[in-house]
Amino acid sequence: MNLQSIFASRISGMKASEIRELLKLLDQPDIISFAGGIPDPALFPQEAFQDAMQAALTGATGRVALQYAPSEGYLPLRQWIADHMGTLGIPCDADNILITAGSQQALDYLGKMFLNKGDTALVGWPTYLGALGAFNAYQPRYDRLDPSANRPVTDIMADAAAGGGTVKFAYVSPDFANPTGVTLNAVQRGAILDMAAQMDCAVIEDAAYQSLRYRGDDIPPLLAMDIERSGGIENTRTVYLGSFSKTLSPGLRVGWAVAAKPVIQQMVLLKQAGDLQTATLNQIAIADVARRVFDPHIRVLREAYGTRMQAMLAALSRTMPEGVTWTDPDGGMFIWVTWPRAMDAKVVLQNALAAKVAFVPGQAFFADGSNENSLRLNFSLAIEDTINTGIERLAGVIADMM
Ligand SMILES: Cc1ncc(COP(=O)(O)O)c(C=O)c1O
Repeated sequence: MNLQSIFASRISGMKASEIRELLKLLDQPDIISFAGGIPDPALFPQEAFQDAMQAALTGATGRVALQYAPSEGYLPLRQWIADHMGTLGIPCDADNILITAGSQQALDYLGKMFLNKGDTALVGWPTYLGALGAFNAYQPRYDRLDPSANRPVTDIMADAAAGGGTVKFAYVSPDFANPTGVTLNAVQRGAILDMAAQMDCAVIEDAAYQSLRYRGDDIPPLLAMDIERSGGIENTRTVYLGSFSKTLSPGLRVGWAVAAKPVIQQMVLLKQAGDLQTATLNQIAIADVARRVFDPHIRVLREAYGTRMQAMLAALSRTMPEGVTWTDPDGGMFIWVTWPRAMDAKVVLQNALAAKVAFVPGQAFFADGSNENSLRLNFSLAIEDTINTGIERLAGVIADMM
């Protein structure tokens, strides 16, 4: 039997992208890849995890670590996160926190929780590809979230109604966004909260890269601003998503959501239905490593990735032909490169692969697949010399095509 013929209609929105197929070619040897979006494994706090896992599996703790645990998450970890959130201007307690299997799982749960078919999700243009992947299963309509565009909220709401639903949330990654590396200033953050208040919708704040700032001062998270405006976390409309993936380890799959208690309680029910809980052993190990080395480890990452970011920015300035522009991030893992005329980034990638360098074409990050003239570069995985060689190769390919 052709089982595909009876898949639910929601499955039709979940396609393997053409770009992912292209990126499979990356497995060739000697390609310098700026396509990934992952931490440098050489910088994992591996010894701290060895000790933490050993301790977690010993004696009475071992019996806890190998057992089922509450869906909300391991309490000492939630308490550590509550303290950490306090340092970001988000006073909350452990009951405002759910531990998730990475922030990706929280994106899925929030899609499931908010989106009826045809409802509108406001997203950046471009935005994080994995968020679109998570939301697509719930068959939303997408509209553009642009806090500087001055588009009347009434127009956005009218378009949402014409699309058969209402605006349910604005999804935003305010610090060093994936894919652009761009950070929203306090005025733009305030504008998003204003828009959300006018539309009476939620705000999903994806803070996956928040700790990875290499220059400038921290800007208060949207949830902190929301708390200040509304008088306390229980009055807020923002769901903050954190992750240990970019700081301690993506493989252990530990992230968290912070929100008003009724929102967290609903997410706990989704967690119970989805996978019961995040792995107990992983949560215990993360709690131990976070308690012992989080701050010094962040300093190590900031130093290493900050140097790589500067190296890539300098290499772009040295080598790119006139007319090519790029973002100037203050942190994160990505730089976004744009050129003025129509030159398909997928064709650029094919030529780049022949020249042994790779990136992700910009189209992948647009909800409507538009925008041919951009690409995303990752700088967290390569050391300086490799960055210099790779950017020289890429600049040569683009110069030949322009
Ligand atoms: C902006 C953003 N959000 C969320 C995620 C998901 O991360 P995780 O599920 O590992 O926490 C990523 C991963 O690349 C990301 O770039």
